[in-house]
Amino acid sequence: MNAWRHQTPVHSPLSPAALLQGLRAALSRNGAHRHAAAQVEALLEERYAPRAVLLTESGTAALTAALVGLQRDHEAQVVAIPAYSCYDVATAVEGAGARALLYDIDPRTLGPDLVQVEAALRRGATAVVVAHLYGCPVDLTTVKRLAVAAGAVVIEDAAQGAGATMSARPVGTHGSLGVLSFGRGKGLTGGRGGALLAFDDRGARALERVRGMLAEPRRGWTELGLISAQLLLERPALYGLPASLPFLHLGETIYREPRPLRTSATASCAIVAATWRLADREAEVRRANAERLLLELRQQPGFAVIETSPTARPGYLRLPVITSPHARRAATQAAARRLGVMPGYPQPLCDLQPFATRCLNRNDAFRGSRLLAERLCTFPTHGRLDAGDLAGLERWIREWGRSQ
Ligand SMILES: Cc1ncc(COP(=O)(O)O)c(C=O)c1O
Repeated sequence: MNAWRHQTPVHSPLSPAALLQGLRAALSRNGAHRHAAAQVEALLEERYAPRAVLLTESGTAALTAALVGLQRDHEAQVVAIPAYSCYDVATAVEGAGARALLYDIDPRTLGPDLVQVEAALRRGATAVVVAHLYGCPVDLTTVKRLAVAAGAVVIEDAAQGAGATMSARPVGTHGSLGVLSFGRGKGLTGGRGGALLAFDDRGARALERVRGMLAEPRRGWTELGLISAQLLLERPALYGLPASLPFLHLGETIYREPRPLRTSATASCAIVAATWRLADREAEVRRANAERLLLELRQQPGFAVIETSPTARPGYLRLPVITSPHARRAATQAAARRLGVMPGYPQPLCDLQPFATRCLNRNDAFRGSRLLAERLCTFPTHGRLDAGDLAGLERWIREWGRSQ
């Protein structure tokens, strides 16, 4: 293999035409933001049929907005969140000034430990956040039943869920509130961006409370810069260059401080609308690539694949797998990185120092989440993988999966 060839861990569907649409929207004067936002809202309404939509600067902002909107019902809000997740979930709790009770994640399914969700509700959680990690849909039926019994609200974090469905409905539509991300590397991107969707009275009230608190949109020059860099540098022949620059933190999981709540940028809306159909096609490709890799992974004793419900259709933003310690070490090495293989999030949220004061039960065991931090590894599934890349990934799986 070409020593410079370096696959990206994720790829968002983009095109020069979409970039141009974004540029045009950013340069337009009269009503450009209203027009671009209306396009995205119409697409969201068609797919998700929400009661209300709020476009935000990021998925983190959408989740923060959900928590802020719910807060007036309950002073000093306590939120149940997964102990293993993207660190941005912790950022949103911090941004909303809430406190967190963590619940463990089952490493076989990446779904919530229901006993711990129930315990968090008993201890006073007024909202439960459930995330579909890597686009593997979680069945929310029992979480919803537990939340209703406790008078709490379910927020479905579908930031990683582009193209994923549960019981034939898109993820993001199953709770009182749904969170979407159009961030860099997501299944649908505007460079940055997000949306909060409401599906019932309580969700809609929370969303309307926060609507007026969002700062005015920016035109989106940063988003256009990010998209241009991505279009140029994510080619496997070039990606080795940015990937080798430590200050870009590419592929690293870092805790980000909360930012003021803001509505989505004009360019970002225009790009999301322009790539909507491309994103649907890309999700099909991700599923097909994941199925191919799963065939190989299931044969190797060093890997345990994540179980999904028969009614789930994963979107596989990446393909998560539990590895032997031996394979997990290999996943951190340069050869694996060049194939786009990555370790999962390195720490459970209970160990995240900047989040320590917000977290009410950080000394609990969280065995599943600790196991995931030590042993989860993810494979790329995106449409830029060619036959040689897929064959390379299959070879890597055979080489490192032989022993448990
Ligand atoms: C589960 C989850 N929630 C929220 C977010 C935040 O989304 P954004 O990057 O758009 O702020 C992410 C981002 O990766 C995520 O993975």
